[in-house]
Amino acid sequence: MNKKQIYKQLLNYAKQISENSYSPYSKFKVGAAVLCDGNKVFCGTNVENASYGLSMCAERVAIFTAIANGCKKIKAVAVYSKKGNVSPCGACRQVILEFSKNADIVYNTKETDFVVTKISKLLPKSFSKKTLKK
Ligand code: THU
Repeated sequence: MNKKQIYKQLLNYAKQISENSYSPYSKFKVGAAVLCDGNKVFCGTNVENASYGLSMCAERVAIFTAIANGCKKIKAVAVYSKKGNVSPCGACRQVILEFSKNADIVYNTKETDFVVTKISKLLPKSFSKKTLKK
């Protein structure tokens, strides 16, 4: 499978899991699928709360699940929403960067089309563990 086919499939996992989104407040279902080292895939959805600020994005749910399951490095993150064009929020970009400087970010634009970009492009001049090194 070439990269385009792999990312199409990753986005499809994100689409499937988006159905499980718990988003009664925004009514905005988001699904994310993370491709890790060893080509394992972990998925997540946004999970909201009556105390709105406690809500969590799909990307971070997927990434934290991946890390908790032993994934050490993230190769790509796919984000699906019915509306399309959901690129990760600032907080999620920072979390993605923690686990890869070079991750591909994939999101759907329409039901079938998608774009691929780089985390380094979405979050340039970032703060990272490298900055903390003595
Ligand atoms: N959301 C995500 O899950 N990922 C994003 O990249 C953007 C926003 C969620 C958060 C909230 O539950 C809903 O979408 C509306 O903002």
